[in-house]
This record gives sequence, C-alpha cells and structure tokens, in this order.
Amino acid sequence: MKNKTLVISGATRGIGKAIAERFAKEGINIAFTYNSNEEIANNLAKEWSEKYGIKAKAYKLNILEPETYRDLFKEIDEDFDRVDFFISNAIISGRAVVGGFGPFMRLKPKGLCNIYTATVSAFVVGAQEAAKRMEKIGGGSIISLSSTGNLVYTTNYAGHGANKAAVETMVKYAACELGHKGIRVNAVSGGPIDTDALKAFPNYEEVKAEVEKRSPLSRMGLPQDLAGITYFLCTDEASWITGQTFIVDGGTTFGCKE
Ligand SMILES: NC(=O)c1ccc[n+]([C@@H]2O[C@H](COP(=O)([O-])OP(=O)(O)OC[C@H]3O[C@@H](n4cnc5c(N)ncnc54)[C@H](OP(=O)(O)O)[C@@H]3O)[C@@H](O)[C@H]2O)c1
Repeated sequence: MKNKTLVISGATRGIGKAIAERFAKEGINIAFTYNSNEEIANNLAKEWSEKYGIKAKAYKLNILEPETYRDLFKEIDEDFDRVDFFISNAIISGRAVVGGFGPFMRLKPKGLCNIYTATVSAFVVGAQEAAKRMEKIGGGSIISLSSTGNLVYTTNYAGHGANKAAVETMVKYAACELGHKGIRVNAVSGGPIDTDALKAFPNYEEVKAEVEKRSPLSRMGLPQDLAGITYFLCTDEASWITGQTFIVDGGTTFGCKE
C-alpha cells in the first residue's frame, strides 16, 4: 500500500480525519479536503507528513458545488503522481441543511436539494474524476460513506436518510460500470458515531442514550470504528468485493438489547 494515494473529502475532523490517519499510518499519501477549517487542515497535513513520512496536502472544496471537483483533481494531479483510492466522506450541516434536516412536515425542496447535491452529486463527480485517474494505473477503490439512518428511524433525518439510500444505489451502478476497469465501488454505512455532525442534533443526548441502550456493545460508535473497514476495502484482501454496503453499527440496527 506504500506510496499509493488516497483522495478523501472532509478530513479535518470526525470520521474523515480518522480514516485519513488510518491510511497515512500505512504509508499512503493523502490528498484531502476542508471547507471552513483551513488552518486545522494545514496543521493536519503537516502533522501526518512528519509523523508518517508521507505526502499530505489539504485543498479547499465545497460539495455544494460538485463541478469544482474537476479543478480540484487537476490541482491534485500537480502534486501527486497517482490516485488509487477515493472516499466521498464530507457532509454539510448548519444553514445548508435548513429545510432538509427536520421532521417530514417541515421538509423543503431547497434543503432537500442541498443534501442531494452534497451526498449524491458530489459522490458522482468526485468518483468520475477519481475513476479517470485510476483507469490509467489499472484500477482502484472508491467508497462512499453512508449511514443506517436509511434503515432505522432517526428523528429529523428523513432528508439525509433518503439521500444515503440514493447514494448506496448510485454506488451499485458505479460498481457495475467501472468493474471492467479494475475499479471497485462500495459504501460504508455507519450507525451513530460520536462526531460534530451528531453533536449538532438537537436531541444528541437522547440519541446517545438510545444507542447505548440498543447496542449490545453498549456504546456509541467512534470515528475510528469506520476507519478499519474503509482501509480493508482498499486492500487486495477485498479484491472481489464491489457494489456492496457494509454496515458498521455496533449492532444498533437490529437493536438486540431490550
Ligand atoms: N456522525 C455520524 O453519526 C455518522 C454516522 C454514519 C455516517 N456518517 C457519515 O460520515 C461522513 C462524515 O460525517 P462526520 O460525522 O465525520 O461529519 P463532521 O464531523 O460534521 O465533518 C464534516 C466534514 O465535512 C466537511 N464539510 C462541511 N461542509 C462542507 C462543504 N460544504 N463542502 C465540503 N466539505 C464540507 C468539514 O470540513 P470543515 O471542517 O473544513 O468545515 C468536515 O471535514 C458523512 O458522510 C456522514 O453522513 C456519519
């Protein structure tokens, strides 16, 4: 895996940061994006380069403008000689999800469209650009983050849940059409993971208590809990795995505890 390159969106914090660091530890070069946290991103690039002896660089990206992925990949081409892996991880929150994050009767087209753009369209354009580079080196692995909020009712999550279902379907289509190029495409679907995104839920404490109750492992997920599976899916050990969604939920979807 050494000297290969991962491109990942939204690696300044939460799940993206844990995934990027997992890959960096293996000697993989990291091209990652930030949106608002430029200083944090540049500090992380410096830290990972020094600690793991890899090349790491941060680039600005707004997933509400997915077409800008094209210029982003051109910039990455200047700095990195190959793209082996692409992980579509970034997610919007705050004002951008108004009308998309909330109860069903308050959903509005603008907020829903923003979540579609950030979740599905951003995956599509990022994966297209990554696939063009992967084809040149004989293949690669593409992953979209998803969430079990499309399987388990989660308060206010209809907009996100519906778009996570959509991106999982898009993953399957991409897998079917890119397999002959040696490119595998999968989704990793997490149960509730303790990150800023979840802490922004108005009912965070309630969600946390419910997760601890439902999970046979009696705890919330941590960002690191999704890092191992994404790394595995990029190794040769996973060379016959494509078009799948992997659920990493601490047992919460089945809800095995009373
Ligand atoms: N947390 C959960 O419970 C959970 C569970 C399952 C799946 N997931 C999925 O895992 C992924 C990561 O979630 P997370 O909880 O780690 O999120 P998070 O902590 O909120 O981090 C979001 C990341 O996305 C970036 N970002 C925010 N707005 C952006 C924009 N407009 N354009 C580009 N990048 C933007 C942020 O960059 P800046 O810091 O620079 O703003 C940050 O790096 C998401 O796809 C999410 O749906 C989360």
